[in-house]
Amino acid sequence: MAVRYPNAFQTPSRNVNANRNHTLSELSTYGAVKTTSATKIIVAVVFTVVVVTLLAAAITVPLVLALTNTGPFATTKSSGTTTTAVTTTTVATTAATTTSSFSECSSYANISDATRLATASSGTACDSSTFSSSTTWVRFTGSGGTQLATSAPSANQCGTQASGWYSGSLPSSGSSINGTACYVWGSNNCNWSNTVRVTNCGSFYVFGLVIPPVCNARYCTV
Ligand SMILES: *[C@@H]1O[C@H](CO)[C@@H](O)[C@H](O)[C@H]1NC(C)=O
Ligand SMILES: *[C@@H]1O[C@H](CO)[C@@H](O)[C@H](O)[C@H]1NC(C)=O
Ligand SMILES: *[C@@H]1O[C@H](CO)[C@@H](O)[C@H](O)[C@H]1NC(C)=O
Repeated sequence: MAVRYPNAFQTPSRNVNANRNHTLSELSTYGAVKTTSATKIIVAVVFTVVVVTLLAAAITVPLVLALTNTGPFATTKSSGTTTTAVTTTTVATTAATTTSSFSECSSYANISDATRLATASSGTACDSSTFSSSTTWVRFTGSGGTQLATSAPSANQCGTQASGWYSGSLPSSGSSINGTACYVWGSNNCNWSNTVRVTNCGSFYVFGLVIPPVCNARYCTV
């Protein structure tokens, strides 16, 4: 069957005159040829469009996901950002606490007493004359050291008989804890004990101390 195609589909090489009358066989021949050419062109155009679309998608989609922090690119970058934010917040909170939260950091008594040093010799001093059952906040200064001893001295040191020391880890900056003071007697590094409070005020510690359980016992310093 003869089919007329628009001039655009006629190939120049065939030099077909659109105005002249064609025979049925000519039209059939041209039609068959043109059908093949048109199909090839359509397939080529469709194929090209598909390929171009896929290429564009392959470039655009990852780019958009990366820029908007979503999809498979979100995991690393988002979690990293979140972690940083959380860390910063924690540090800021801790720093603020250092100077503002603990009243004992600005309200304490200084004790500067070299006879309290864990290396000082024996004596009969007892902290029952210095502390009571209610907490007294103390900062050790000067020749008497800056903190309670954190390892057991021998008995009969620091001007007393039962040498007191802090058993545990001191708090980090901006923190306050309830810990344990132990008193050495004989070979027992914790023959008696009582609770003490410790606050790290940033550049120094303050210790919330109470009367020891026995005499003669004393808090030793380093
Ligand atoms: C305690 O002594 C330190 C110096 O060692 C001083 O800076 C501080 O103001 C004193 N604190 C009190 C409450 O006297
Ligand atoms: C330590 O103990 C006292 C008295 O029980 C309490 O008021 C305080 O909050 C405690 N401090 C900490 C840091 O646990
Ligand atoms: C502490 O030492 C005394 C005298 O050696 C002893 O009688 C007592 O049992 C000891 N207490 C503890 C808790 O070890």
